[in-house]
Amino acid sequence: MSEAVRYERVGDVAVLAVNNPPVNALGHAVRAGLQEGIERAEKEGARAVLIYGEGRTFPAGADIREFGKPPQPPHLPELCNRIESSPLLVVSSIHGTALGGGLEVALSTHYRIAVPSAKVGLPEVHLGILPGAGGTQRLPRVAGTEKAIEMITTGRHVGAKEALEAGIIDRIEDGDPREIGLAYANELLEQGAPRRPVSEMPAPAPADFDAIYNATLKKGRGQLSPAVAVRAVQAASELPFDEGLRRERELFMELMNSDQREGLIHAFFAERAVGKLPELEGVSPRPVNKLGVIGGGTMGAGIATAALLSGLPVVLLEMSDEAAQAAKARIAGNLQGALKRGKISQEQFEQLTEKALTLTTSYDDLADVDLVIEAVFEDMDVKKKVFAQLDAVCKPGAVLASNTSYLNIDEIAATTSRPQDVIGLHFFSPAHVMKLLEIVVGDKTAPDVVATGFALGKRLGKVSVRAGVCDGFIGNRILATYRTAADHMILDGATPYQIDEALEAFGFAMGPFAVSDLAGLDIGWAVRKRKRAEGMDPRARDSTYADKLCEAGHFGQKTGKGFYDYSDGPRNRKPNPEVMPLIEADRAAQGITPREFTDEEIVRRYMAAMVNEAAKVVGEGIARRPLDVDVTLLYGYGFPRYRGGPMKWADMQGLPGLLADIQEWAKEDDYFWQPAPLLEQLVAEGKTFDDLNKEKS
Ligand code: 3HC
Ligand code: NAI
Repeated sequence: MSEAVRYERVGDVAVLAVNNPPVNALGHAVRAGLQEGIERAEKEGARAVLIYGEGRTFPAGADIREFGKPPQPPHLPELCNRIESSPLLVVSSIHGTALGGGLEVALSTHYRIAVPSAKVGLPEVHLGILPGAGGTQRLPRVAGTEKAIEMITTGRHVGAKEALEAGIIDRIEDGDPREIGLAYANELLEQGAPRRPVSEMPAPAPADFDAIYNATLKKGRGQLSPAVAVRAVQAASELPFDEGLRRERELFMELMNSDQREGLIHAFFAERAVGKLPELEGVSPRPVNKLGVIGGGTMGAGIATAALLSGLPVVLLEMSDEAAQAAKARIAGNLQGALKRGKISQEQFEQLTEKALTLTTSYDDLADVDLVIEAVFEDMDVKKKVFAQLDAVCKPGAVLASNTSYLNIDEIAATTSRPQDVIGLHFFSPAHVMKLLEIVVGDKTAPDVVATGFALGKRLGKVSVRAGVCDGFIGNRILATYRTAADHMILDGATPYQIDEALEAFGFAMGPFAVSDLAGLDIGWAVRKRKRAEGMDPRARDSTYADKLCEAGHFGQKTGKGFYDYSDGPRNRKPNPEVMPLIEADRAAQGITPREFTDEEIVRRYMAAMVNEAAKVVGEGIARRPLDVDVTLLYGYGFPRYRGGPMKWADMQGLPGLLADIQEWAKEDDYFWQPAPLLEQLVAEGKTFDDLNKEKS
C-alpha cells in the first residue's frame, strides 16, 4: 500500500487516510493509493469506506507541480468515477480546505461530513484551468446551476455552513475528522442508507448560458478560464452525465495547453517564492506587539488601519492635534468600510478606534513601540529630522522603517546611530487594501530586521518582496521607465486615449494615463520638477504637456479633470479636450511630425521598456530574481495576472525578439533604449528569465 494513503480497517469501515504534506495534494502516489484502497476494501469485504486527510487538511487539489508533465495513471477523473461507482458506501470527512480535485473527490463519495471550520471550493479558474475531474458536472447537480457557476467562476472558498445550506455537504460536526467520519459512516450503515452517486442525480436546471458566458468573459478582462468554465456547466445541464464529463475534459485540455494557464501557475508559485530568502533561513524576527506610525495622511492612515485590523495596537504621531484628529477620521473612514463589509463588528470598530489607537504629537509616546513606520511628506530633510527624533526616543532594538516611495534608505539610516535597525517598508495606496509590500533593505540593515519586515507583512496579509536601494526601488523605478516610453509615443503621434485602450485590451486594470489621473497628476509633476532640478541628461527627451495640465489646476480625478474629464463620474471618463492641443504644441515645439501607432506597437514598446528596465533592476541586484519583479508588478501595478508578470510574458514572447526590437529602436533613441546587460547575456546564453529564477531559488 502506498505511503501517501494509509489503509486501516475499523470494523465494517475501511479508512483511507491521505498523508501527503503539506496540503495532501492529489499527486500520483495519492491517486494510486486511493484507488488501491478502494479495491482492497471491496476485496476484503468492508461495507463502507471513509476518506479523510491527515494533518492540516483534506486534499487541497490536484498536485499543481505535475501540470505540464506527462500525466501518470490513475488520472483524477477516472479515480473519481471509480470511487463513485464502488458498491460500498463511500463517505468523506472534510477539514481544512477541500479545494479543486479535493472537492471533486469528496463529490464522488456518497456522503460528506465536515468540521465547522472547513472550507470547500473549486478555485481552478485562478490557475487558468477549470475543474477537470467532474467538478463542473457534479457540483451543479448538488448545488444547482446558479450556485455552481458562482463558485466555479469566482473560485471562492465557501465555509461549511454555506456548503451545508447549498447541499454540498450533508452534515457539520465538531471533532477529529477521522472520528466524526467513522461515527457518520457507521450511523449510515446502521440506518441502511443507500449509496448516493451524484452522477445519477437529475441534470441541473437550464439557464441563459450565452448571456452568463458573455458577462463572465467581460468581467474577466481577457481571462478565459472563468468563461470557459460556464460552458462546462452548460454541458452538465444539457448533456447526459458521461457526455458532460467528456465535454469538461475537452475544455479542460484546451485551457491546460494555454499561455494563460502557464502565466497563472507561474504567478501562484512566484507569489509563494518571494518570501523565501536564503539569507533569512534560521533568522528569527524581532517581536512586534506595538506599532508606531509617523504621519497620518493617506498612507499613514492606511498603514495604521491595516495594523489595527491585524490586532496590533498603534501609536500615531502627527504634527498637531488637528492633524491627529484628521488622521483619526481617515482611519475611522477606512474601518467603516471593514464594518460595512462585515469584516469587523460595531464593537470591534469602537475598540479599534478608541482603545487600540493612540494619537499623539509627542515623540515620548513612541518610547515603547517595537516598530515604527514613518509616512510623512516625501522630503529628505523632513524625513531626516523625524529619524533623528526616533533615534533619540525609541528603545534599543526597535525597528525604524520609512514608507518613502523613492528616497535613499541608506541616507536616512545614516542620520541615526543605529543604521542596522533602519529599513524601508514601502506600502501601496490604499495601504489597507493593496497587497504589495516592498521591503527595502539598506546597506547596513540587519538580517533580523529584514525578517521582522517579512513577519509584519505576513501579519498584515501582504505579499512582501525584497528590494534593494535605488531611486524608486523595484516597482516605481520600472514604472518611471515604461511611463516614459508612453510619453515618448505621445510625442511621436499616439494619443493618451489610444495608449490606455491598447493597454487595457492587453489586460491592465487601467491604462497609464487613467492611473495618473487616479493617483493625482501632481505626484508626477513633483517628480519631474525634482529630476529637472537635479539635472536631466541632455539626451533624455522631455515634454511639458502634463506640467501645463497641472498648471491649469487639473490634477486628475480629485479635481474632476486630468487627461480625462470626470464630470459624469469616475466610471464615465471622457477625453479632456484641453489635452490634445497641449500635446500638439509640444510636438510642434520639438519639430516632430506625428505618425500612426498600431495598438500592437504600443503594447510592444511599453512592455519592452518595462522588461528592459526590470532586467536592469535584476542585474543590479535591486530585485533578487525575475519572479520578484513579476510579483511586484502583479500586486502593485495592475499587471494582468493571467500573463504571469512582465518577465514571464517576456519569456513566452521570446527574449531574442524583444532584444532585437530594443536594438532597432535604439537607432532612433540610443539613450532611452539601452539594452539591459542581463537581457543581452541571457540571449547570448540561450536562457530565459525563468532559468534565472531556478538558478537563484
Ligand atoms: N499542488 C501542489 N502544491 C501545492 C498545492 C497544490 N494544489 N497547493 C499548495 N501547495 C503548496 C504550496 O506551493 C506551498 O509549498 P511551499 O511550502 O513549498 O511553498 C505549500 O503547499 C503550502 O501552501 P501555502 O503556502 O499556499 O499554504 P496556505 O496555508 O497559505 O494555503 C491553500 C493553503 C489554501 C491550500 C493554498 O495553498 C491554495 O490555495 N492552494 C491551491 C489550491 C488549488 O488551487 N487547488 C486546485 C488545484 S487544480 C485541480 O485540482 C485540478 C483538478 O480540477 C483536476
Ligand atoms: P500625505 O501628504 O497624505 O500625508 C503626510 C502626513 O504626514 C500629513 O498628514 C502630515 O501632516 C504629516 N507630517 C508631515 N510632516 C510631519 C512630521 N514632521 N511629523 C509628523 N507628521 C508629519 O502623504 P502620503 O501620500 O500619505 O505620503 C506619505 C509618504 O508615503 C511619502 O513618503 C510618500 O512618498 C509615501 N508613499 C505615498 C504613496 C501614495 O500613493 N500616496 C504610496 C506609497 C508611499
